[in-house]
Amino acid sequence: MDNSITTQAVTFDVFRFNSETDYLPYYKKYTLEVTSEEVVLDILNRIKWEHDGSFSYRRSCRHGICGACAIKVNGKGVLACKERMSDLIELFGTSMSIEPLSEKRAIKDMIVDKADFWDSHEKVKPYLVAQIDESPESENLVSVEEHEALLEADLCIQCGLCHYSCPSVEINDDYFGPAAFVAAYRFNADVRDSATVDRLEQINAPAQGVWDCVKCFECQEVCPKDINPIEKITKLHNMVFSEFVALDNVATRHAVGFASSIRKHGMLDEGELVRYSEGTIPMILKHGVVGLKMLKKGKVVPPWKMPKSDKLDEIQALVRSSSTAEF
Ligand code: SF4
Ligand code: SF4
Ligand code: FES
Repeated sequence: MDNSITTQAVTFDVFRFNSETDYLPYYKKYTLEVTSEEVVLDILNRIKWEHDGSFSYRRSCRHGICGACAIKVNGKGVLACKERMSDLIELFGTSMSIEPLSEKRAIKDMIVDKADFWDSHEKVKPYLVAQIDESPESENLVSVEEHEALLEADLCIQCGLCHYSCPSVEINDDYFGPAAFVAAYRFNADVRDSATVDRLEQINAPAQGVWDCVKCFECQEVCPKDINPIEKITKLHNMVFSEFVALDNVATRHAVGFASSIRKHGMLDEGELVRYSEGTIPMILKHGVVGLKMLKKGKVVPPWKMPKSDKLDEIQALVRSSSTAEF
């Protein structure tokens, strides 16, 4: 294996903004000789130390633990102290942009105001709620299996990469975002906790809760700790039903209708899904034009023509065995 250190000239287009003096952000180019040993944080340091001492960014641990150094390189969310330059050069070539997690929340260069992130966290009670015996006679042990049920949600470092890569957060200020859901799941899954229903009521509310996730999997893609937030969101969907806090609205009816269609036909009946989810005639009619186009193209069929899968028995057995929630 060739372990020799190589060097390459790379041009960085760096987002610059000082909210106290600049009306608009601008980009400044820096070309650096980058070695194959460097990570993105080395580049940020060199821009500051060798080119412009006013360049600002957050960092603390340099070991992927504190979550402070999260930024975007060519739009890809990275932890600067963990992301190797050689990998980015392989992906993007020798020209790349360096930007803060969220441009609209930039305070100075890479430093962003994460108030919305922490506000969402706070709303899901990201701590253990339990009656504590102040003078216990024995330890309150958690078994290995009970700890495994947290699905590593306790490893979240609150870096914000998932939150600021999430399209739903970008368009909806009320949406809690994947990191808050990871925190909600982490404590709901803890056997010592007693605030599950309170958290579910928060994360089940329209516009802010789990039902506004568009399932793009970006949070899973970007998480530097491999926590898989979308998996926790799916678990929370199930808990909403199993703990009887589901509201009767289009989102929950969509989930119920989806499962019922698969159980009935062994495949999805798109027309039935819309009828079931929307619930009332005026709301169903709002999909009329699209529905007619789909009918014409054979993407939906009238209810009496809906086929059934020739593997219906097998699919129904699979649905029964994989269902974790009673609707
Ligand atoms: S899967 Fe959901 S929570 Fe994750 S980034 Fe996409 S919309 Fe956001
Ligand atoms: S879930 Fe992952 S990406 Fe999101 S805040 Fe936690 S560590 Fe960062
Ligand atoms: S400096 Fe702490 S995670 Fe990068």
